[in-house]
This record gives sequence, structure tokens and C-alpha cells, in this order.
Amino acid sequence: MSKIKKCLFPAAGYGTRFLPATKAIPKEMLPVLTKPLLQYGVEEAIEAGLSTMAIVTGRGKRSIEDHFDISYELEHQIKGTSKEGYLKEIRSVIGACTFSYTRQIEMKGLGHAILTGETLIGDEPFAVVLADDLCDNEGDGVLVQMVKLYEKYKCCVVAVEEIPPQDSNKYGVIAGDIIKDENYAKGALVRVNDMVEKPEPKDAPSNLAIIGRYILTPEIFEVLKDTKPGKGGEIQITDALLEMAKIGKVIAYKFDGKRFDCGSVDGFVEATNYFYTKAEA
Ligand code: G1P
Repeated sequence: MSKIKKCLFPAAGYGTRFLPATKAIPKEMLPVLTKPLLQYGVEEAIEAGLSTMAIVTGRGKRSIEDHFDISYELEHQIKGTSKEGYLKEIRSVIGACTFSYTRQIEMKGLGHAILTGETLIGDEPFAVVLADDLCDNEGDGVLVQMVKLYEKYKCCVVAVEEIPPQDSNKYGVIAGDIIKDENYAKGALVRVNDMVEKPEPKDAPSNLAIIGRYILTPEIFEVLKDTKPGKGGEIQITDALLEMAKIGKVIAYKFDGKRFDCGSVDGFVEATNYFYTKAEA
């Protein structure tokens, strides 16, 4: 199986929880400090050695393409001034990878968004990053950790974390059997045999929730084509992954690091404070 080179970013959602801020600005472009959420995700993917960023956008998302491009006017204005340093990071991001885009015409769920990205991914394994789950780690980033796991186990990998039981209806929740692997802490790896999208606490199969990092093998596209609308009438990646899990092809991984739910105002503020404190240190 081939190496992972591409990262898919579903970025077509409306971001209604951040209205009115997201009326004319994509939620993926909201900044934590001075950097848009999506740029954090792209940097995490570059760190993991991925070089093609495949972004599924929608109407009103053109600023994403402009962000990952050169602004000649701006470059001209600030050339040779002390402000030039502010563009250093984004310039190096643009130099380190290529970007391709496709539009999701209708919002029919995360599974549908990922299927829309098939045209950009083709027949190879790939990573998926949901930019509103912002991750940070002192050591290897979450995607670095997941790519390593993929290289060993050659199957789909989902990142999970323990959640308070009452939050189960915000996440895909998994269950399975612990995999013994001397390189990982006990319980860090689970061979998934059940997964449910946003179950009520009484129906949750465990307290392990999927966060927005996935490694998927290309078979997922065929499964998604046959996946019926599930929770909320949407095509859910969780339902498609359950089909792969039934044949032992999904591992859940309790990753090392912090994760902020920047899809919620609370999580966004928490991330902002965290990165501010970190930058000051
Ligand atoms: C999506 C997935 C869900 C996952 C979550 C992680 O939900 O459907 O399974 O747990 O991302 O952030 P969303 O947050 O887009 O509603």
C-alpha cells in the first residue's frame, strides 16, 4: 500500500454556532491568535510529511483559496519593512505543499463531504482533518502519530479521546478490543467493532469519542457510495467506518496531545488562551 501524501479538509460547513462572525467569513478562517484554524490543520499535515492539501469548500469560501496563495499587493507593500516577518509562516506553508479544491454543492454530512473529495484523492490512503478540532502537542503532532500507526497496521485509523458520558451526543463513539502493542500504552489502541454517531449517553457503547483526525483507505469511497443517510438525515463517515470495522479494518487511537473543540465558543476561547499563554512563555 502506498504512503500517505494527501490530506482532505472538509470545509464546506456553515459554522452556524459562530454567527454572525461566520456570515461572510468561513469558520475555518476564524483566527486563534493571528492564524486561521485551517492553517493550524495544514501545518499539522505538513509536519506529518503530507504534501497535497485537498480542500472541500462550498459557497462563500473563496477566502480560503486566497489565504493559501501569494498576495502580490501585500508582498509589495510590506517588502523590506519590519512587518515582513508576519508573512513568514504562511509563506513557508505555501512553499511546502500544493492545494487543490473542489466544492460540495449540497450539505449532506461529513461522509458526503469526504466522498466529494474523492476526485482530489483518487485511489490512495489519505488523512482527514476537521480544522475546528485544533490539536497541539509538545512532541509529535497527532497526524504524525497516526501516520506512523497506519504504516504499521495498514488500515483506517481514528483518533479518540475519553469524554464525559453526558457529551456522547456530540461525537461519534467507538467500542472494540484492546490491541496489545509493546510500543503503545495499554488501552491506547483499540480494534474497533462498534461505532455510533452521536448516541444518547444511555446508548453510547463507551466513553471514547472520535475527534476530527482520520486516516482512511480508499475503499471508504465505495462504502460511502452505499451508505444511507443516518443521524440527522446526513451521510455519516461513522456509519461508513462501521462497515470497515466489521471486517477488522479500523483502529482507534488515544493520541498524545491536547485537543480543543473550536467549533464551540467555549473551546475556541480555551484554545485562544492556551496558545496565547504558550506564545508568551
Ligand atoms: C463530526 C463527526 C463525529 C466526530 C466529530 C469530531 O461531527 O460526525 O463523529 O466525533 O466530527 O469533531 P461534527 O462535529 O461535524 O458534528
